[in-house]
Amino acid sequence: MPSDARTGEQASTTQWQRFSVPYEFPVVFTDGLFDPENPVLRDALCRLEPTKRHRIIVFIDDGLTAAHPELLAAITAYAHRHADVMDLVRDPIAVPGGEKIKSDLHFVESAQQTLFELHLDRHSFVIAIGGGAVLDAIGLVAATTHRGVRHIRVPTTVLSQNDSGVGVKNGVNLHGVKNFVGTFAPPFAVLNDLDFVATLPERDKIAGMAEAVKVALIRDAEFFSWIERYSDDLATFERAAMAQMIRRCAELHMHQISRGGDPFEMGSARPLDYGHWSAHKLESLTRNHVRHGEAVAIGMALDARYAVLAGLLVQGEEQRICALLEYLGFDLWHPALARQGASGEWVILEGLSEFREHLGGELTITLLADIGVGVEVHEIDPALMRQALVWLRERAGA
Ligand SMILES: NC(=O)c1ccc[n+]([C@@H]2O[C@H](COP(=O)([O-])OP(=O)(O)OC[C@H]3O[C@@H](n4cnc5c(N)ncnc54)[C@H](O)[C@@H]3O)[C@@H](O)[C@H]2O)c1
Ligand SMILES: [Zn+2]
Repeated sequence: MPSDARTGEQASTTQWQRFSVPYEFPVVFTDGLFDPENPVLRDALCRLEPTKRHRIIVFIDDGLTAAHPELLAAITAYAHRHADVMDLVRDPIAVPGGEKIKSDLHFVESAQQTLFELHLDRHSFVIAIGGGAVLDAIGLVAATTHRGVRHIRVPTTVLSQNDSGVGVKNGVNLHGVKNFVGTFAPPFAVLNDLDFVATLPERDKIAGMAEAVKVALIRDAEFFSWIERYSDDLATFERAAMAQMIRRCAELHMHQISRGGDPFEMGSARPLDYGHWSAHKLESLTRNHVRHGEAVAIGMALDARYAVLAGLLVQGEEQRICALLEYLGFDLWHPALARQGASGEWVILEGLSEFREHLGGELTITLLADIGVGVEVHEIDPALMRQALVWLRERAGA
């Protein structure tokens, strides 16, 4: 409505507020992170203020401390050795590892209470050491306390080192929905120490490799061939191969976040989530008894077969993908996939609408047009997807 000086009516006016915020943070690969002579953590803390004595609190995955009983003392000793720049405000706090910490808001609240009691401010550091679940929950604590306290991630599983740890998201589960509460919050630094991975249960080592196969499938055919070539070494967790697999996978993730044009997932697409729509549903159908990576492996096999049925992917490539995943140690079927609702529909297919809902906007699913080439589609034919499920079940002899 135009303004009229005689009647005094106001016109609507719009001013565009516009700014952008550059983010940068180091992602370091090291070993012996808490060896007193290793400068990586010290350097990370001092990146912006080299002479300050930084206040730090450490939350640590109790699964990790069980496997590394010496770790708590090592962290304290490291802080003493670097006391000129580090003020560890209290002993490291062990928190439940795995999905447990993400499934009860009490843990988030209690960590925030600790930050409050110790008067940590926005320039203090919250360091999280552990698997993806602990990083997600403590990342949320850091991002929301005082609207954002500096946060350093020390991922200790294959999956968190090659995928979630280098990402920009955190979150916990609520109302039975994975990552229902969470934020996008780039960390201050990510410090990967391969030594930790050695003590991971085999099941988790295998599970973490799913994300490497995934990113290779949608982005990098050469990396996929590399995984095939080194599958003997990877299947036996040989250190050099694991290190290279983790590094390349992390690099490809970092590249997607910085160059993909949508680091905070404002659009409807989530290109890195190949195989994930059914994986998320399978995780919740099994109440997280199936690990994320295990579910992603099944999801990738399912969507590879679907892509063949839909005429996108050359027949035979889905077998190649399944063979590699099985060789690495994955099972490509779970009975929960066959669950049917009252209407007779496969319950797993609800994962499609739930996936769309989590992202908002139009349904966008990444499928394969070739190995190394992900394409986005906006429709999934349920009849073909049912056929793909049947194929997967028959293939597994289930
Ligand atoms: N934020 C993101 O972008 C993102 C991306 C992918 C996955 N995730 C989340 O990550 C979580 C899965 O993470 P994960 O696969 O790292 O598993 P996890 O965090 O569930 O850990 C698995 C188990 O390993 C233990 N553990 C951790 N480090 C260990 C070590 N070095 N030695 C021995 N035991 C150790 C833990 O205590 C736990 O029992 C899921 O909640 C998933 O939603 C987040
Ligand atoms: Zn994933």
